[in-house]
Amino acid sequence: MSMSLTYYGHACFGVSVNGKQLLFDPFITGNDLAADINVDEVPADVMLITHAHQDHLLDAESIAKRTGALVIAPFEVAVWMQAQGIENVAPMNHGGGGTYDFGRVKLTNAVHSSSFPDGSYGGHPAGFVVTSADAGEGSFYYAGDTALTYDMKLVGEEFDLKFAVLPIGDHFTMGAVDAAKAAAFVGASQVVGVHYDTFPHIKLDRAAALAAFEGSSVALHLPGIGETVDF
Ligand code: NI
Ligand code: MN
Repeated sequence: MSMSLTYYGHACFGVSVNGKQLLFDPFITGNDLAADINVDEVPADVMLITHAHQDHLLDAESIAKRTGALVIAPFEVAVWMQAQGIENVAPMNHGGGGTYDFGRVKLTNAVHSSSFPDGSYGGHPAGFVVTSADAGEGSFYYAGDTALTYDMKLVGEEFDLKFAVLPIGDHFTMGAVDAAKAAAFVGASQVVGVHYDTFPHIKLDRAAALAAFEGSSVALHLPGIGETVDF
C-alpha cells in the first residue's frame, strides 16, 4: 500500500497509515483559506498534535469528541486535552515513542515555543516520525513548527523516510531555504511544504520556495487545500 496525504490547509493534514487515518495539527475552522473543508467530515482514527499553539489545535477537541480518535501529543498538550474531556490520550515526550496497531510514533525535537491560547505553558514543542506497521509503506517525518536544527540529522540516521512534511512559511518557522537543508539532514527526497499563506506574515513567494529546492534532488510538493498526494 501507499500512504495518502490530504492537505487541509496551514499545518493540518491527514495521512493514511496501514489503513488508519492519522490527522495532524487540526486548524481548519479558523483558516479562511480552508473554508471548503467541512471539519465535521475530516476523518481521524488517530490525532497527533505537535504543540499548544492555537493554529495547531483549534479543532482538536471537537474532532476528538466526534471521532473518538486516540490523541498523541507532548505531555502537557495531552493532559490539556484530558482536561477538555478527551479520555483517549497518549502523553509522550521527546525521544520516546509508542507502538500502535497502525505502526510506531516517535516524538522528535523542535526548536519553537509552545503555549496554549490562554497563555498557559504548553510544554516543549515536538515533531513526529511515523513508521507504518506495513513495511511497504515505510516512514515519514513531520517536523512541526521548528527552526532548522542539527537534531534533524538524527532523524536521517535512524530512519529511511519516504517523505517529510516541513514548514516553509518563514517568520514563525524555518523558511524554504532552511527547509531544503532540513530535507537533506533527514534524508528525504520528497517534501510537502506546510505553514504558509494562512497569515499575512507567512505569505509564500512560491517561485522563491520552488527555487530553494531546485538544484537539489528533493521535490517540493505544494498540494492545494483538499488535495491528496500519494507516497
Ligand atoms: Ni507554533
Ligand atoms: Mn504554527
